[in-house]
Amino acid sequence: MSRANGDGSRVRVAPAPLIELRNVTKYYGDVRVLDGVSFALHEGQTKIVLGGSGSGKSTMLKLMMGLETPDSGQVLIEGVDLGRAGERQLMRLRPRIGMVFQESALFDSLSVFENVAFRLSEVGTDEDTIRDRVREVLGFVGLEDAIDKMPAELSGGMKRRVALARALVSRPAVMLYDEPTAGLDPITSRRINELIIRLRDVRGVSGVFVTHRLRDAFTLASEIAVESGGRVRFIREDGTFCLPHTRFVMLRNGRTIFEGPDEVLRRSDDAYIRQFIA
Ligand SMILES: Nc1ncnc2c1ncn2[C@@H]1O[C@H](COP(=O)(O)OP(=O)(O)O)[C@@H](O)[C@H]1O
Ligand SMILES: [Mg+2]
Repeated sequence: MSRANGDGSRVRVAPAPLIELRNVTKYYGDVRVLDGVSFALHEGQTKIVLGGSGSGKSTMLKLMMGLETPDSGQVLIEGVDLGRAGERQLMRLRPRIGMVFQESALFDSLSVFENVAFRLSEVGTDEDTIRDRVREVLGFVGLEDAIDKMPAELSGGMKRRVALARALVSRPAVMLYDEPTAGLDPITSRRINELIIRLRDVRGVSGVFVTHRLRDAFTLASEIAVESGGRVRFIREDGTFCLPHTRFVMLRNGRTIFEGPDEVLRRSDDAYIRQFIA
């Protein structure tokens, strides 16, 4: 990105973060759920948000999606303050972010096709494009054959994959994952984590990954996907430290109490963090 200088020459300026929270405070009723949280996700980064139940993780993601508004502070997407953005800007920015909600949250009365097509139908995308895109993302999650099924006919893991496909249909630059493996068995969880790693490494999708499962967090922070000749391999070298561009963020009672790489988190002597990672 560049900008004209006073004398007509151009200077390089760093692109705005894909997502930024600036000193955000959020109340539900009298309860302060987020208390002065600042956060930035730059292109190519993955941030893993940890924290106990009720610490404000889901609220943080909903603010990034524009589904909640802050009581004070700002939420910016690609440098645009959502609180000041016009409808046209919001229309442009919405497809840039995809979210997999806690518990999948599919529309039960819609088929898999209709669930995945939803965001495109909403903005009046033409039928042919919708069909192609839905097939493409269902292919990515390995569920082409489920296209005409209803959510009630799917297993928990399949629902989660449909939720992933639904979020991907607009080809987002960033994915927000809210405990995407909660309630799933280890093999199914593994499959979801592999899809997330592939999106990051093969497709270059940035991400915010919320979890209270440390094992998933460390998998994401230390494993990479390599695609060659149409096959994807997952590589995890022993003793690998946290991947570059991957950072852990720890929330406690609506405040950020840690931000940094895996190995620093593991060495922390903060009692809450020690207990969390024990
Ligand atoms: N829509 C809501 N109305 C009232 N309170 C809420 C709402 N959503 C979340 N909360 C409360 O806000 C706090 C943080 O919730 P949440 O962001 O869901 O935490 P986490 O995802 O870390 O478990 C909790 O105390 C929760 O009960
Ligand atoms: Mg939550």
